[in-house]
Amino acid sequence: MPGTGIGVDTCRRAATAGLVVLSIVGTATAANDAPLRVLAAASDLRIGAAVAMGPFRADKMYREVLAREFNILVAENAFKWSEIHIGRSAYYFDDTDALVTFAEDNDMAVRGHTLVWHNQLPGWLTSGTFSRDEAIAILHDHIATVVGRYAGRIAAWDVVNEAIGDDGRLREDSIWYRLIGPDYVAMAFRFAHEADPAAKLYYNDYNAEGMNAKSDAVYALVKRLVDDGVPIDGVGWQMHLVNGFGIGDGHRDNAQRLAALGLEISITELDVRTPLPSTEPALERQARAYGDVTAFCLAEANCKALLTWGFTDAHSWIPQFFRGTGDALPFDAELRPKPAYWAMNEALAGASGE
Ligand code: G3I
Repeated sequence: MPGTGIGVDTCRRAATAGLVVLSIVGTATAANDAPLRVLAAASDLRIGAAVAMGPFRADKMYREVLAREFNILVAENAFKWSEIHIGRSAYYFDDTDALVTFAEDNDMAVRGHTLVWHNQLPGWLTSGTFSRDEAIAILHDHIATVVGRYAGRIAAWDVVNEAIGDDGRLREDSIWYRLIGPDYVAMAFRFAHEADPAAKLYYNDYNAEGMNAKSDAVYALVKRLVDDGVPIDGVGWQMHLVNGFGIGDGHRDNAQRLAALGLEISITELDVRTPLPSTEPALERQARAYGDVTAFCLAEANCKALLTWGFTDAHSWIPQFFRGTGDALPFDAELRPKPAYWAMNEALAGASGE
């Protein structure tokens, strides 16, 4: 801890040894020192985090906390087109192979993110000219190759990510919409199911968690897919939240209308950003948000998994994309559990009666 003479590594070792006394705001009494994954398993919930390849490869402690605390992981970037489909017929699987093998070695499930998105696309695709049929063939080849390679080893795929714009309409600033048309969404789900009939297939988006125009548009899109017999199993709620967030009736209503369609939900990219430098009261408020979201997912029968978008403040997209904010995750930059971690721990322990 800064100014105490105790080195960072000592803190890390203490943190990873799960010394409850390290919890900043004294929730020690209610806390349970079992890792999150143990408590979550008792409620049949998958609890996990997004993994960044840099620290995954270079930082032993990062991998230890990942395997100790979580029973599911997702790649923050490694499965995206720009990282995996590096040439028209060239694929790079070193990172994704390493992640899936690590997960299997540590009895963790894997979420695949993402097969179709308008972002993070390789230059050969964005600067190429392709007919509609060629674009469909490229999409089919990508999904068949990537999903096929990991068939039976990936529990769920974000098949289509962020296809609905903030205006509630199907996003037209997407190469898939431009080259194929609106049918690309249903096609992608059919191609994914063909490549791995066992994988759960998700539509994933942000700002569509409560009841609002965007979640109405997502509901309409997935209802159409269900009505048309397109193989879809769930909806991913990204939940990139601002500190002060609280779960409301809108979240319950949205979860239950999706359940009525036979769809599950997963919280796929949770983080709660706060102005920097973060203060103790702000971290307390953040803990309430993490506790609320965890309790919500435990309470909704169709909520199957809760993943944070990264797990340590040392590796988070937030400071780069939302200047002046950060500290959005359950572990601090030294991998010490924050109040947010203990709030998740308490919600899980409460549900599992531990
Ligand atoms: O891989 C290149 C590397 O070769 C290059 O040297 C480096 C320097 O520019 O960039 C690297 O690419 C970066 C990539 O992350 C991999 O690290 C991109 O610049 C950077 O923009 C990209 O950011 C990712 C962002 O998606 C892109 O939109 C974030 O890490 C990632 O957290 C974020 O994740 C998205 C989800 O997929 C979907 N939902 C929202 C979420 C946050 O935006």
